Amino acid sequence: MSTPQHHTPQHHTPQHHAPAMDLAALVGDPATRIVVCCGSGGVGKTTTSAALALAAAEAGRQVVVLTIDPARRLAQSLGLVELDNEPRRVEVPGAAGELNAMMLDMKRTFDDVVSAHSTPERAQVIFENPFYQALSSSFAGTQEYMAMEKLGQLRASDRWDLVIVDTPPSRSALDFLDAPNRMSRFLDGTMIRLLTAPARAGGRAGVRLFGAGFSLFSRIISKILGGQLLNDISAFVSALDTMFGGFRERATATYELLRQPGTAFVVVAAPEPDALREASYFVDRLSTEGMPLAGLVLNRTHPPATTGLSATRAAAAAEAVTEAGGPEAALAAGALRVHAERMTQAAREQRLADRFTSAHPEVPVRTVPAAAGDVHDLDGLRVMASALLADEDDTGTGTPRSRVLPVRRPAA
Ligand SMILES: Nc1ncnc2c1ncn2[C@@H]1O[C@H](COP(=O)(O)OP(=O)(O)OP(=O)(O)O)[C@@H](O)[C@H]1O
Ligand SMILES: [Mg+2]
Repeated sequence: MSTPQHHTPQHHTPQHHAPAMDLAALVGDPATRIVVCCGSGGVGKTTTSAALALAAAEAGRQVVVLTIDPARRLAQSLGLVELDNEPRRVEVPGAAGELNAMMLDMKRTFDDVVSAHSTPERAQVIFENPFYQALSSSFAGTQEYMAMEKLGQLRASDRWDLVIVDTPPSRSALDFLDAPNRMSRFLDGTMIRLLTAPARAGGRAGVRLFGAGFSLFSRIISKILGGQLLNDISAFVSALDTMFGGFRERATATYELLRQPGTAFVVVAAPEPDALREASYFVDRLSTEGMPLAGLVLNRTHPPATTGLSATRAAAAAEAVTEAGGPEAALAAGALRVHAERMTQAAREQRLADRFTSAHPEVPVRTVPAAAGDVHDLDGLRVMASALLADEDDTGTGTPRSRVLPVRRPAA
């Protein structure tokens, strides 16, 4: 298949065209039971999850979307005052199915564990303790771990026939898959052994077990935190260990669930080098793990209103108009320059998409144009949903939805 631009070396020529992604078929298919939206931070995972859930509910599915959105933007866009650890029904007028949403609340889950293993007074002391605060907020992977746990619970219930999972805001998309392991390593790690030693072995035995180093460590910790508090923390960490010990097995089971045919991963990325690099790693990882990938959502793209006028010609025209002068010149030149910039940006985004597709020619792609403002209500989600689900070729500009710009470059 040879198109004219293949003979124009200065133009970037894609080796492959990304296959189209059919998300309408995916979420409408009763065989689809879990959809996981993942990607690096801030690319639109939460919004994509919610939009897909909305579309699925409208298609008649009983959906629950499990979000992890500490900024609570999603609750707002769903018209809820608050999302919490239990699914809540979202009113979607006219929907054939049902939309429910919940938000994983990490801090609350942690606090609950403390409360359950402590008196109210002691719990309060622990909550205020800097050690605890650091632990509960920087416990690498806890959120991902908890998301897996919750996913297992939701999937096990007959109440839902589709669970859509948003993944935590993390630097790396891979965290979602790696966290459970990292967490196990942490729990098995030295820190935990040291902290739980007094509770497990008792004072003197602990010293013998760990030697003078531990004795010193223990004394310093005791000095800083107070003996009682050290015991409390030890008890807390032991409780955590017990809790996560069982959880480790369930997380493994859920991990297996993710490899089943009813699961699909949707990788979300912004048209930026870093986000696409992450997406690339993630796609490789999914294929290594034998986990099913639906495709890549390239979110917040900037397709031009028309592709009939190239950036070069628009810029040249802007100059010509300015030189010619006249009352409307400034306005016209401004509009032309905006178009030129937009074409340049779109070309850059398409180039990045092409690079991804060259590396992963088999991965379907769906581009979603940036909305004018943030997506902050049900209508905004509907617009996003239709961008995600509409037919590949159903666009005004003739650009297929797997692309930012048409395949054939406009004549220069
Ligand atoms: N296509 C879009 N057009 C305009 N705004 C968008 C679009 N997609 C997402 N947004 C906005 O971008 C912001 C980030 O989106 P979102 O919260 O979904 O990202 P995220 O990947 O979940 O982020 P985090 O990693 O922090 O969880 C939100 O304010 C959202 O409304
Ligand atoms: Mg999010």
